[in-house]
This record gives sequence, structure tokens and C-alpha cells, in this order.
Amino acid sequence: MQRKKEYGNVDQDEYVDWLLSFAVEIRRVLKSTGSFVLDLGGAYRKGRPVRSLYNYRVLIRMCDELGWNLAEEFFWFNPSKLPSPIEWVNKRKIRAKDAVNTVWWLSKTAFPKADITKVLVSYSERMKLLLQNSDRYYSPKKRPSGHNISRRFSEDKGGAIPSNLLLIPNTESNSRYLRYCRLVGVAGHPARFPEKLPEFFIRFLTDVGDTVLDIFAGSNTTGAVAEALGRRWIAFEINRSYLAASAFRFYDGAQDDAAKDLYARLIAEDAKGIVIPQAKTQPYLLEGTGEYKTAHSHKAAG
Ligand SMILES: C[S@@+](CC[C@H](N)C(=O)[O-])C[C@H]1O[C@@H](n2cnc3c(N)ncnc32)[C@H](O)[C@@H]1O
Repeated sequence: MQRKKEYGNVDQDEYVDWLLSFAVEIRRVLKSTGSFVLDLGGAYRKGRPVRSLYNYRVLIRMCDELGWNLAEEFFWFNPSKLPSPIEWVNKRKIRAKDAVNTVWWLSKTAFPKADITKVLVSYSERMKLLLQNSDRYYSPKKRPSGHNISRRFSEDKGGAIPSNLLLIPNTESNSRYLRYCRLVGVAGHPARFPEKLPEFFIRFLTDVGDTVLDIFAGSNTTGAVAEALGRRWIAFEINRSYLAASAFRFYDGAQDDAAKDLYARLIAEDAKGIVIPQAKTQPYLLEGTGEYKTAHSHKAAG
């Protein structure tokens, strides 16, 4: 939000209204079983070490005024985030590094399509030992909390249920997208998602063949992940050069000159109907997603 220059956002005070105007349209086009996942980074108020409440205001107003349900709040913890703002964190040392984004999972009904078994995570070391030798490490009993931990607890279900704290470093530096951006002389998008973030929600909340829309697509990480997972996708992006460069997420050109030519055609004012020579598979996407179990995952399309 404070990066007005980069994103062309309106003033903080107006930002919530602005965002809500999109939420109205999303609600109009979303299926009743669909979900809207909204990632919002935290922000400080201008010139003061006081946090903005905008992300909470957006959530509360979406639910109170527009009728959305908060299916669950998620928190994206990015340990590789740089300390900011420098004034409060590095210079005066009066605030901690803000490394968590709020990610609101919103839905039209109380029961949007969702299947947590599609995003199981690796078992803890202790659980792995238990699964190998349940007699030694485990005896069924009632927990002080009242949870009855039965023998079924020691069955291997292919992975553990993930929590709503998503630990995903944002460290991508040498993808195909960035390589081609360098080649044509444009900067990569400054606020790209790590692929695992959209991957988690796409796997969790959609099936193969479903449609995923990102209304602020940037470099179109969401669309590329959706494609790799066999979903249909739509991307809106207001900045033509971000949009043009996003084609490199799918591009399979062997010749550097052809990549430059493609970018020149995409960036042109009258660009339309351009077919991008597309990579058949995007193994780089699925390779990088080791956190999620692949037993339930789907093969890349194409
Ligand atoms: C945080 S970035 C998204 C980055 C993206 N998640 C990625 O992985 O590359 C937000 C994007 O929204 C775009 N944007 C801002 N206002 C928009 C609008 N009204 N319509 C479409 N895109 C918009 C900005 O140009 C910016 O690229």
C-alpha cells in the first residue's frame, strides 16, 4: 500500500473503498461453491510507527457490508522478507521485522469447495517414528484437552493436515521468467508471489478443469501455477509491460531473438491474438513444490 509509485494505488484512506469495489464484482462472477483468496501485506501509517488496520477493515467490511464469509484466515510467513520500514526496524530498532501477510480466504457460502487432503504436508520427525513403530512410540489415551487419540492416529494418511500458517520463503531468483526479462531488458515484477502460495490454494480449493481468476496478476504467477495444475485461468493486469513479460512464464522459445520479438509484439498498443510458443510442461513449477504431498496432486496440463 505504501508502494503507491509501484502499484498506482490510491491513498491509504481510500484504498479500502477501492478494494471493496473489486470485491463486489468478484462476488458477482464467483460460483456459489467458489472461494476468493486475498493476500494483503501489512503496512505502517505514514511517518509513524503505528500499524494501519486496512487489511482488517477490508475483511470486516467485506463480511459486514458485502455478505462474504470468512472461511478461514491464513498467515503467509515469508522468513526471507527484508526488514521494513528501515526507519523503525533498522535505524531506530523499535519494531520487529514484519514477515507475515494476512491471507483472507473468503467464500459466498459456509461450504465452499475445499479438500485439505490435497495439500497435506510432510509428517513431523516424531510422527514418522510413530508411523514406523507405533507400539513403541504410542499408546492410545485421552488427552487433557479431551481429545480422544485413538489407534487410528497412528495410521499413515499420506501426510499431516497443514496449519493456517504458511511458511513459504520468497527466494526465487533464476526462473525462466527472470531469465527472459533480463534478456529483453525489463525488470522482473517487484512483488511476485512464490509459486507455492497460489499452489496451496489452487490445490486446496479447486479441481482440475476449474477456473482460477487473478484480478491483480502482476507477473501471473497464479496463472502459471493454475496451468501447471490443469486448471483454466484468467489474468487481469493493468500494467502492459508486466503483462507482456508474464508471457515468459509460458514461453518455450529456443532463440533469444524470437523472445525479444515476442516481447516487442506483446508490448505494442494494438497487440491482440498473439499466440505464445508454449512449453509443453512446466516441470520447474512442480519441482519446487516439495512441501505439499504429491500423492493427490495432478499432472501438469499440456
Ligand atoms: C502485488 S502485485 C501482484 C503480483 C503477482 N501476485 C505476481 O506474482 O506477480 C499487484 C498488481 O496489481 C496490478 N493492478 C493494480 N491495479 C489494478 C487494476 N485496477 N486492474 C488490474 N491490475 C491492477 C498492479 O499493476 C500490480 O502488478
